[in-house]
Amino acid sequence: MDKIVIDGGRRLKGQVEISGSKNSALPILAAAILTSEESVIENVPQLRDISTMIKILKDLGARAHQEGNVVTIRPGDNINHVAPYKLVSTMRASVCLLGPLLGRLKKAEVSMPGGCVIGARPIDLHLKGMEMLGAKITIEHGNVKASAKRLRGADMYLGGPFGSSVLATANIMMAATLAEGITRIESAASEPELVDLANFLNSMGAKVRGAGSHLIEIEGVKKLHGTRYKVIPDRIEAGTFMVAAALTKGDIRLKNIVPEHNNALLDKLREAGVGVETNRTSARITYRRKIKPVDVTTLPYPGFPTDLQAQMMSLMTVTQGISVITEKIYPDRFMHISELNRMGSKIHLEGNSAIVAGVKRLSGAPVMASDLRASAALVLAGLVAEGRTDVHRVYHLDRGYERIEEKLNSIGAKIWREKE
Ligand code: EPZ
Repeated sequence: MDKIVIDGGRRLKGQVEISGSKNSALPILAAAILTSEESVIENVPQLRDISTMIKILKDLGARAHQEGNVVTIRPGDNINHVAPYKLVSTMRASVCLLGPLLGRLKKAEVSMPGGCVIGARPIDLHLKGMEMLGAKITIEHGNVKASAKRLRGADMYLGGPFGSSVLATANIMMAATLAEGITRIESAASEPELVDLANFLNSMGAKVRGAGSHLIEIEGVKKLHGTRYKVIPDRIEAGTFMVAAALTKGDIRLKNIVPEHNNALLDKLREAGVGVETNRTSARITYRRKIKPVDVTTLPYPGFPTDLQAQMMSLMTVTQGISVITEKIYPDRFMHISELNRMGSKIHLEGNSAIVAGVKRLSGAPVMASDLRASAALVLAGLVAEGRTDVHRVYHLDRGYERIEEKLNSIGAKIWREKE
């Protein structure tokens, strides 16, 4: 197993190219099996989660491969409806195969995802939506089995206790493209990744309207065809580099982004006194003066993303004053606190709010990554800490950040990988 080592205390300056979005690419790759024809998908990051999805698609009987950032998928006529437990259990996002399998084959069997370190992650909204489309759902031996003679469009409300659900909306959107009649999803998630998925589906001949709002309408069609499509930039990777600029008193230009996808973060950075300049596809984040503490509450899009909560917390650890970071999507997503505190931060948890009392400096330490975004937060803390930080269990980071050491080193960090 590898670990990441960081020699901290360097100011980051320069230009970074942001990769394609992991969380857009995963459902888009799954959606490609809605047709038997070939699709070519560009701007797909080379990441562990993506190669897991490609392996699953191959196991289902599709031909699929990635060359650089281009994935080619030819599902063919003989797709199997059972996603293999061995692979599915390693990636929770595999749940987004349920919709396309059900849509195309009218049956699907995918193992039920368990909880994970960021908390309980139920799939009741996915199942409710599929039932509303006419599927019969059973859970047997840890697998979700969905089957239907035919899928019929339906009106449904997909809000849950924590608001909308990204992948439940994606699953229903995908299944409904091949249902008979019109499906309306109320309280749909409005994340940019869903707009990307809708655009992809429409480029295959689907009729999806309203993506990006909370009411999505899908008019079922008989058949979809192959397509060529380019995935949007990764707003969470972009946000992580934006925080890195502020944290290291740096000056970073981010290229190949959609700045408005990061409005909630940019607004907080401006409030904290960080310099923010944006144009159509890039942004420049510059440290200007002592950063002010800001309070952050995570919410569904366009609110502050839960996937940037840990990174923002790293920034607040060295900001003079008190800030409160409240998690409203995954109330238990705070595994990074104890590791950050090992580096000298002063954070304590009150329910689903972290109270951060800024300290003058962090000191490098061996720390343990618990999930993808927590790992990113520890790398950020390591960049600003005095001395050496060893981030163990780096495989979490490899699920979601393409060539992270290379990108950080190119703008002045000193970070490398070592075998444990
Ligand atoms: C997506 O997960 C992302 N994953 C997550 O990113 C992200 O944290 C999350 O959306 C929230 O933005 C992918 O896109 C692959 P949800 P998803 O369903 O869709 C509750 C990362 O680090 N809920 O929108 O699974 C749920 O418990 C990952 O890249 C139900 O109650 O998340 C949570 O509180 C981690 N019932 C809230 O909804 C359900 O059936 C939002 O979760 C489904 C969800």
